[in-house]
Amino acid sequence: MCGIVGAVAERDVVPILIEGLRRLEYRGYDSAGVAVIDEEGVLQRLRLPGKVDGLADALKGQELAGYTGIAHTRWATHGRPSGNNAHPHVCRNTVAVVHNGIIENHEALRRSQLARDHLFTSETDTEVIVHQVHDYLHEGCDLLEAVRSTASDLEGAFALGVVTDREPDRLVAARQGSPLVIGVGIGEHFIASDVAALLPVTRRFIFLEEGDIADITRERVVIYDAEGNKVTRPVRDSELSADSVERGEFRHYMLKEIHEQPRAIADTLEGRISAGRLLEASLGHEAGAVLDQVRRITIVACGTSYHAGMVARYWFEGIAGVPCSVEVASEFRYREPIPEDGNLLVLMSQSGETADTLAALREARRTGFADYTLAICNVPESSLVRETDLVLMTRAGPEIGVASTKAFTTQLVSLLLLVIAVGRRHRLAHSGQEESIVAALKQLPGQVERAVELNSQIEVMAGHFAEKRHALFLGRGPHFPVAMEGALKLKEISYIHAEAYPAGELKHGPLALVDSEMPVITVAPNDSLLEKLKSNLQEVRARGGELFVFAGKGIHMDNGDHVLELDAVDAVTSPILYTVPLQLLAYHVAVLKGTDVDQPRNLAKSVTVE
Ligand code: G6P
Repeated sequence: MCGIVGAVAERDVVPILIEGLRRLEYRGYDSAGVAVIDEEGVLQRLRLPGKVDGLADALKGQELAGYTGIAHTRWATHGRPSGNNAHPHVCRNTVAVVHNGIIENHEALRRSQLARDHLFTSETDTEVIVHQVHDYLHEGCDLLEAVRSTASDLEGAFALGVVTDREPDRLVAARQGSPLVIGVGIGEHFIASDVAALLPVTRRFIFLEEGDIADITRERVVIYDAEGNKVTRPVRDSELSADSVERGEFRHYMLKEIHEQPRAIADTLEGRISAGRLLEASLGHEAGAVLDQVRRITIVACGTSYHAGMVARYWFEGIAGVPCSVEVASEFRYREPIPEDGNLLVLMSQSGETADTLAALREARRTGFADYTLAICNVPESSLVRETDLVLMTRAGPEIGVASTKAFTTQLVSLLLLVIAVGRRHRLAHSGQEESIVAALKQLPGQVERAVELNSQIEVMAGHFAEKRHALFLGRGPHFPVAMEGALKLKEISYIHAEAYPAGELKHGPLALVDSEMPVITVAPNDSLLEKLKSNLQEVRARGGELFVFAGKGIHMDNGDHVLELDAVDAVTSPILYTVPLQLLAYHVAVLKGTDVDQPRNLAKSVTVE
């Protein structure tokens, strides 16, 4: 989950590489570096611990320039964040490599390279790659051959960019298990971990496939598949524009993305509902035949996407009348789940590149666990989208803040569309609920807009948290996963320890923690579980706990509670609406604490390692 950029051009590529790194910083940001072949044909490198801005500042005092180069922003796996562990890694000042992924056999390679007198200057798994490429070059291979031979020596996952002073106009890239795209310019070519990095210089992209190696110069790109055959991969035009990933007037991407939710939800619905009904063809022309066979749902995902799946379980079972199980991908992939007929495996992922989620998909395929697979994803060109039978795209637009917001709410909207599509063949066929769900979905952008308008009141509420060390989130029914998502947001960006519990579980343990130092946050919509929830809140008050409640319109709470009212909302779409104030609460607490909201410590947005 590091970020890679590379370029071969007829102009100085350093500014392009640095801008690319800035746009990839969501993938990792503990150190950054750049290497170029300068005008004299000498390999020059600068790398530093810390963020890309630090590297950019350091570059101001240096004459680092060149027409061919690679750059990297790191999320540490092997070896702590430090200058020595930062990429690019270099061997004998003749080859430089940037790498995203994990090399599993690096210890064995390291041993044999030590025996060949290589010096190791880092603790990374990556360094073995550069020594390996060097040795093949030394044996007389050209850069393409050297990278190809190296790739076949490597076990694990990698996206690579490699340059050498021996062939100063050439860049070789390889992809196996980690994403990599080629940007096609006029008389110049680029590589990057994702299209966002290159939008300022091109909107035309080639998406490398698993096992591909690309030989890139200014004039041409030649791609070879895993078997070494020359292959043609299509050039696609991206619909994204460079400023679609800019922060605008907002202080943080996260705040911008929270505010974008009304539009993102409306976009996700566009063209998919009409005349009070779901337009099933919008799920793809093959969807109908597949859905006819579906008897049960398994949802697999990580992080926030997993929470979306947990909400959807209530919907699939309660609305569609279809059994549904939900599991985190890192567990699912190592379990031995029993295949069942008519099982639809739904993979949820904002990025579509999460290593565990992709592995779960591949494992399920291998074992025949599910008859059909469907991705709910936000990145059209991602691996997940390319590997599943059916795809339902969320249309949230690029999400940059590491803490996911608009991706989550649009995932929920997409899931609800899927619930309708599946449910039509089951309970929903008789309940007549489809029109009311569609009507509720149509109201959602406006309701979310009004929830976002609570921003300044939530900012005041956040003032009560900044000094706290722990927080407890409570919810019931589909609002329990919403509480989990609220707790995750708070811990990710404010570093306050937060836990979520089903409110009914309070008395089985967490109640022991409740005192005046433990803020208890809850969502209390006007639903069938409200009275039960209220009893649970009494248990908190009786122990001196301070309650922060996001409540349905007109719901009466005690005087001592901090209460904010939300719009009246349909019970089905309620979990989507109640997510929004919890996002804002976490955001404002983090701002008050002065943490790095968009790039919280130790985390990364796209987790492409296991
Ligand atoms: C990381 C991100 C989370 C995200 C999770 C799953 O942990 O920081 O925000 O929910 O990965 O990512 P995905 O792209 O698969 O939804």
